[in-house]
Amino acid sequence: MSFPFLIFGGMNNNPKYILVTGGAGYIGSHTVVALSKRGYIPIIIDDFRNSNRDVLERISALVDQELIHFSISCQNKERLRGVFSQFPIWGIIHFAADKSVSESVENPLKYFDNNMGGLVSILELASEHEVNNFVFSSSCTVYGEPKKIPVDESFPVSHNSPYGYTKKVNEEMIEQFAASQSGFKSTLLRYFNPIGAHESGTLGEEPNGKPDNLLPYITQTAAGIREELTIFGDDYDTPDGTCIRDYIHVVDLAEAHVEAMNQLENPPTPIQVFNIGTGKGTSVLELVKYFEKNTGEKLKYKIGKRRKGDIPAIFANTEKAEKDLRWKSRLTVEDAVIDAWKFEQFIRNKRNRE
Ligand code: WQD
Repeated sequence: MSFPFLIFGGMNNNPKYILVTGGAGYIGSHTVVALSKRGYIPIIIDDFRNSNRDVLERISALVDQELIHFSISCQNKERLRGVFSQFPIWGIIHFAADKSVSESVENPLKYFDNNMGGLVSILELASEHEVNNFVFSSSCTVYGEPKKIPVDESFPVSHNSPYGYTKKVNEEMIEQFAASQSGFKSTLLRYFNPIGAHESGTLGEEPNGKPDNLLPYITQTAAGIREELTIFGDDYDTPDGTCIRDYIHVVDLAEAHVEAMNQLENPPTPIQVFNIGTGKGTSVLELVKYFEKNTGEKLKYKIGKRRKGDIPAIFANTEKAEKDLRWKSRLTVEDAVIDAWKFEQFIRNKRNRE
């Protein structure tokens, strides 16, 4: 069997194949670009339930390799097995999952099926093919409503929604699987609030229908697609009364995955857990102001009722990631609003042309 992509690999003479499930999604697509730039060979698996096929073209335009991709659902073990047999996969980054907190409350079974089922099937194939390096896309939702902030990785885990529950159980599944497999190593990355877009403005978050998340709602409002933003509550016990989150630029987040993959060569322990955030809290009103100041757009917004399930404030303690993963966020919330706005305009122009 020959592997045509072995001639690529940048600074690395023996490039490694990394399977990226959900590689056409928001965080997945940025991670594929980052992996490729660092000499890895990403293999995208995506069933496009929540992403667009034309993302592949846009990723291709940003990397020097021919893109390897398969349209397969993570639960289709037969077809996945074909991919595992075709390539000498060294590591897996598992993003593929449903991720809307509110949808998970309405339809928990969808989340149990896709988020639990997808992980089981990927781990089964990892075991069959002895792929021992696994990075998992986890979430700060595993902290539930923390008793104090910033949160560090030793805080107790909990959950506030079926979505958060799937991430908590997924982490435990990986830990128990690792205990049963000699040589299996995994890094669990607990993301805070990913925002922003690639600096080219061609990759970003493309929600289907009405966005759940704050920054896509802001950019769509400024673009005239939504009438106005509703700020969900200004009576929280925070300095300006609106909720505080730790907004992490998606390009920094993508880099954290590359660092995690590098470190899996020789990790200090088989399972490692890291908070991936900036360590800085930003309120909803502050994010609106950053957007207005950095884009020159005036945003129409009103104050509405609190959203069910929102916690008042959370942000990360990032010391462990800085020390043990040697990763630190580099980009700012200002960079993120500028890049997200660039991406919103790119998408509008693209749709107008279609
Ligand atoms: C942020 C703030 C809202 C929309 C997200 C993900 C979750 C997890 C953590 C990874 C809140 C307010 C929002 C709007 C608003 N990430 N808001 N008006 O809820 O912190 O959770 O990050 O796993 O999966 O969903 O993010 O962007 O929805 O909300 O006022 O129209 O913005 O109340 O305070 P959240 P979000």
